[in-house]
Amino acid sequence: MSKVLVAYFSTTGTTKVAATGLAKAVGADTYEIAQEVPYTNDDLDRKKD
Ligand SMILES: Cc1cc2nc3c(=O)[nH]c(=O)nc-3n(C[C@H](O)[C@H](O)[C@H](O)COP(=O)(O)O)c2cc1C
Repeated sequence: MSKVLVAYFSTTGTTKVAATGLAKAVGADTYEIAQEVPYTNDDLDRKKD
């Protein structure tokens, strides 16, 4: 087990790809932070506010 942890939050998967790539490069563990209540598509639509 590594002493380095890459914790990330990703809704689209973009940050997940970056975080897992970074973790692999430095030999770190990963931890995905997830919301307790999933976002709706409406929540994720950045054009609406
Ligand atoms: C509903 C919602 C609102 C967000 N608002 C902000 C914000 O105002 N400022 C910010 O820096 N990040 C905000 N974020 C986080 C980032 O925009 C983004 O979700 C995060 O960096 C992960 O990127 P990914 O989901 O494309 O992997 C928000 C995320 C969500 C889901």
